[in-house]
Amino acid sequence: MNNRIKYLADKLYERHTLDRSELYELLSERTEEAAEYLSRLAREVRESIYGRDVYLRGLIEFTNYCKNDCYYCGIRRSNRSCERYRLSEEQILECCKTGHELGFRTFVLQGGEDPYYTDERMCAIVREIKTRYPDCAVTLSVGERSRESYAKLREAGADRYLLRHETADPEHYAKIHPSELSCENRMRCLRDLKELGYQVGCGFMVGSPYQTLDNIVTDLEFIKEFKPHMVGIGPFIPHHATPFSDMPAGTLELTVYLLSIIRLLLPDVLLPATTALGTIHPRGRELGLLAGANVVMPNLSPTDVRKKYMLYDNKICTGDEAAECRRCLERRVESVGYRIVVSRGDWRGETRNITA
Ligand code: 5AD
Ligand code: FES
Repeated sequence: MNNRIKYLADKLYERHTLDRSELYELLSERTEEAAEYLSRLAREVRESIYGRDVYLRGLIEFTNYCKNDCYYCGIRRSNRSCERYRLSEEQILECCKTGHELGFRTFVLQGGEDPYYTDERMCAIVREIKTRYPDCAVTLSVGERSRESYAKLREAGADRYLLRHETADPEHYAKIHPSELSCENRMRCLRDLKELGYQVGCGFMVGSPYQTLDNIVTDLEFIKEFKPHMVGIGPFIPHHATPFSDMPAGTLELTVYLLSIIRLLLPDVLLPATTALGTIHPRGRELGLLAGANVVMPNLSPTDVRKKYMLYDNKICTGDEAAECRRCLERRVESVGYRIVVSRGDWRGETRNITA
């Protein structure tokens, strides 16, 4: 391997940081060997903190109504061919019941930005889940809201919040979103969430339209500085009924490479091997785990709505029951020498600091 790349990888492994130009070099000089080397280092770091454990998050896609019109997303409001649905509180609780029996201890409520779910409705759902399953963490992924709203949801018992920043470069942000959305408000949301005591996840799509390596460096620098508890990255995959239908998808190779870099930048971060990664390659999630990922998020949504939550084309797991996904993932995780654990799977940073 190129000596310079080995030097940069070792430096990243030892110091958990690189400057802008070094990150750029690491990205632009990517080779198969470099990826293999980084992946080894990332795996070592991951195993030193989380062992061979893989955490489970049960994803409940409870509404595909969305008031936003992101150019990349299949459930954008302008997509008239998207058949809309909402799950009732009872249906959501039924998903949790199934999930709990299957060993899930985190429920992720994800949806479009659906005004039907006012603070009152959303808080009631969170409270009920926390009452029935006090041993579980509730994660919300319902987009941009006011600080007051985030505070109420936190008070109602929500533990975590996933809000991908999508891109940390305002100019790039403007190319993939309509003008009513801004990078600035996105960042405001993330900072509010953190200040309110949520475990926060940010993240971005790899290979999103108009993304440059320079943009990715900016994302990595933002992630390093923001110190999220979780980082969700997956390849961009075009959806046929969006303005980006003809744009190329992100690659497995770059996504996996970035997983390793993120693991090395933030050693204790929770890093999911995402559904999008499993969609572009049959063993994408397994390769993600081998590159430093330590979380999987199988689908807990009722089978009859799964095909309607199509953020991108060919999404996997849309025909399977929760129990099948659970078993399937168990096999996949074990095939690479890891094991799924029945646990909330909290971030390990703070406990490590206490014992250190
Ligand atoms: N391809 C890949 N990921 C997508 N997302 C939305 N649309 C797509 C797409 N076409 C991601 C966004 C969002 C998350 C829920 O799904 O990053 O934050
Ligand atoms: Fe859903 Fe494999 S994880 S079917």
